[in-house]
Amino acid sequence: ITVYVPRDSTSIALGANQVAAAISDEAHKRGLSIRLVRNGSRGMFWLEPLVEVDVLSRRVAYGPVVPEDVPSLFDADFLDGGDHPLRQGVTEDIPYLKNQERLTFARVGITDPVSLDDYLAHEGYAGLQQALQMTPAAVVQQVLDSGLRGRGGAAFPTGTKWQTVAAAQADRKYIVCNADEGDSGTFSDRMVMEDDPFMLIEGMSIAAIAVGATQGYIYVRSEYPHAIAALKEAIAVAGQHGYLGDNILGSGRTFRLEVRKGAGAYICGEETALLESLEGKRGVVRAKPPLPALQGLFGKPTVINNVISLASVPIVMARGAAFYKNYGVGRSMGTLPFQLAGNIRHGGLVEKAFGLTLRQLLEDFGGGSESGRAIRAVQMGGPLGAYMPASQFDTPLDYEAFAAIGAMIGHGGLVVFDDSVDMAKQARYAMEFCAVESCGKCTPCRIGSTRGVEVIDKIIANQDHQRPQQIHLLRSLCDTMVNGSLCAMGGMTPFPVLSVLNHFPEDFGAPAERAA
Ligand code: NAI
Ligand code: SF4
Repeated sequence: ITVYVPRDSTSIALGANQVAAAISDEAHKRGLSIRLVRNGSRGMFWLEPLVEVDVLSRRVAYGPVVPEDVPSLFDADFLDGGDHPLRQGVTEDIPYLKNQERLTFARVGITDPVSLDDYLAHEGYAGLQQALQMTPAAVVQQVLDSGLRGRGGAAFPTGTKWQTVAAAQADRKYIVCNADEGDSGTFSDRMVMEDDPFMLIEGMSIAAIAVGATQGYIYVRSEYPHAIAALKEAIAVAGQHGYLGDNILGSGRTFRLEVRKGAGAYICGEETALLESLEGKRGVVRAKPPLPALQGLFGKPTVINNVISLASVPIVMARGAAFYKNYGVGRSMGTLPFQLAGNIRHGGLVEKAFGLTLRQLLEDFGGGSESGRAIRAVQMGGPLGAYMPASQFDTPLDYEAFAAIGAMIGHGGLVVFDDSVDMAKQARYAMEFCAVESCGKCTPCRIGSTRGVEVIDKIIANQDHQRPQQIHLLRSLCDTMVNGSLCAMGGMTPFPVLSVLNHFPEDFGAPAERAA
């Protein structure tokens, strides 16, 4: 009998290791023989640690389990799917999971993340096998045709980026994976690395074959120790079995891969600062052009993609561009793993085709706010994303539809706030965040963010006669930052601030108005 207890860091934080130990001990005590697999998380965090058992080839779920529940689970014959207050039924039938379209996350929570056999048994490496039978140009074309756009947030067509690198002439090219997932409310990169690391490795290997690169780096933030450990283990296993290194699967192609740990600066998620950091320097933004695609790591042509972009490639190669493109709406093709966080009842990961509305995510999947109060605002796209009021919740999740209302989907993470939120404080936080995280290279961001905090403080302190003047000043400062900053850090910080000014002006009102 196989019992699954996740090894994902969310589950571990919620006690999964203790639950796994308690299950082993209890089985031993009762003379029962079980096989304990540490799988990835299913992404239903309110049920973690979610324990699953194989019953007649289906998995039955119990959660959230604490070690004290374990004896009663055995008493209830959970190994045979027995009834228990924590029984959630057949895992795949839980509506949160059943109503998703899991393409990239198809294996996540199902397999043992570091088992190559498990990976191969679940369509793993089918994409690489396919790519090895094609010309590099055909691989690039397939990624282009799939409509895949950069999942880090900027949504630039991945195939176009690869095409630029493939066309560049150089003695050496690199594949760099940006795993410095720093946006608030995001964890899809982490889940891929911890829960299905071979998928990322396979995606990077396909990228290498497509553009002619021989060396790759995964730049992971230091806050992700479990991801780093899982990646290192998977890279070693892939190398031992001929999926990495010289002569990949007898093809004569070389691709070596290493993990590099960041040191905790948000700006190192900006691609050029990341490259500086990888080169051993301080993470300061480089001016573009030249694009990293032409002069990237150590001045060589470099594909730098987010984890989810690269992890989406194996399925594009295995199932074909048309299959992938069939999901989604307009120019937003395929699926996106949305991440529900903040004040939300059912926080977790929801992979869906583009096109559903924000409200569907919040209500049908999220189940409303955790506090039970009305949802007043949602910030999507990280700390530099706009705050969306309830009147915008019917916007379809589509890059262009969001851009049209001054919002952004970004990396797909959303943070929910109920009606007790003070939006003026949230606006102040955006400026403060920028002041702390600015790399300091350009003035609008370095100085502007600090001035922004001061101006917002004055508005909050409400020196009444000065308020209209200060709000005018704040808008003007935002304009300078948007247009004068070198990178998205300073260039996007005004978006949350302006969204508060535009959609929640009452929070910038006089104390009497604020109380009303
Ligand atoms: P960008 O629009 O400047 O570039 C997007 C990508 O396309 C870059 O990799 C760029 O090098 C590449 N590119 C552009 N033109 C190209 C061409 N002709 N050929 C080949 N490649 C080309 O956006 P940027 O500054 O790289 O990213 C900003 C985004 O980052 C924001 O929209 C935000 O959503 C996201 N972000 C994500 C975070 C996360 O934790 N995932 C954190 C902070 C921001
Ligand atoms: Fe650095 Fe900010 Fe300028 Fe970006 S906008 S280059 S983070 S100072």
